[in-house]
Amino acid sequence: MEKPKSRLLSVVGVVWVGVYLFIKFAIKPPLPSSLIFMYMSLVTVAILLFVTVFEEDKEAFWGPIRDFIQGNEGENSGRKVGRAAVFVLIPMLFGFQTFKRVTPSLEPPFEQRVVHPAPPTEFVGLYNPFREDEEHLKENIKQGGEIFFKNCFVCHGDKLDGNGLFAHGFNLRPANFADATTISMLQEAFVFWRVSKGGIGLPEESTPWSSAMPRWEAMLSEEERWKVILFLYDYTGYKPRTWD
Ligand code: HEC
Repeated sequence: MEKPKSRLLSVVGVVWVGVYLFIKFAIKPPLPSSLIFMYMSLVTVAILLFVTVFEEDKEAFWGPIRDFIQGNEGENSGRKVGRAAVFVLIPMLFGFQTFKRVTPSLEPPFEQRVVHPAPPTEFVGLYNPFREDEEHLKENIKQGGEIFFKNCFVCHGDKLDGNGLFAHGFNLRPANFADATTISMLQEAFVFWRVSKGGIGLPEESTPWSSAMPRWEAMLSEEERWKVILFLYDYTGYKPRTWD
């Protein structure tokens, strides 16, 4: 009688697949594949130990496998084809898996950096005090320019295009203020936050790499920071974004 033999093998198969599906899909957050591989190796060893402890179980487990591999007289041709297919497919599967692992991917690594995260609440709603002082606007912009060319241009460039002398040394390039994706779409309060707190002040989601942007609150007064911002907008011709 073949029946009990094949039953143990299928029970083992179902358990193995069941455990795999459980750790692959039921556990949240998903486990890394290396860990799944480790668990499944352990499960496999445990199952093998379990089925080989008793002579009967051992035979019931290995018997059908041995029969399948060796074949026996009078077996039908379907089984022969099945065996040939397994012998071809398994090496191919391993080959494919190895191939997939060693070929380098042409896709850039997934990058989650948030370029413009939400600023801390104490900066929300701040406005540039020098905007209202129209009488001295020109003068303040000029002073802002001086601050820029003393402190910022080595990174952000003398055309404000992010191509300063040191710029190529940094990964995260210095921001290009001439580009429509930086200060032109930001509120002044946001820019003031970035100038004040620099790269160090960026929240977690913005820092897979570190930013070289200095924390200017340590070197420039509040007025100087607002003035240099005035200059950034004036020079590029952009208007700060407002709530309306
Ligand atoms: C040592 C190089 C360096 C210097 C000097 C520097 N920056 Fe930066 N700055 C960076 C880098 C790199 C970034 C881009 C990474 C980031 O957003 O933190 C940046 C980003 C910024 C941003 C954010 C733009 C955006 O789109 O979010 C502002 C605003 C800024 N800098 C203003 C200034 C001002 C004003 C000065 C001078 C007072 C200055 N920076 C000096 C390197 C520098």
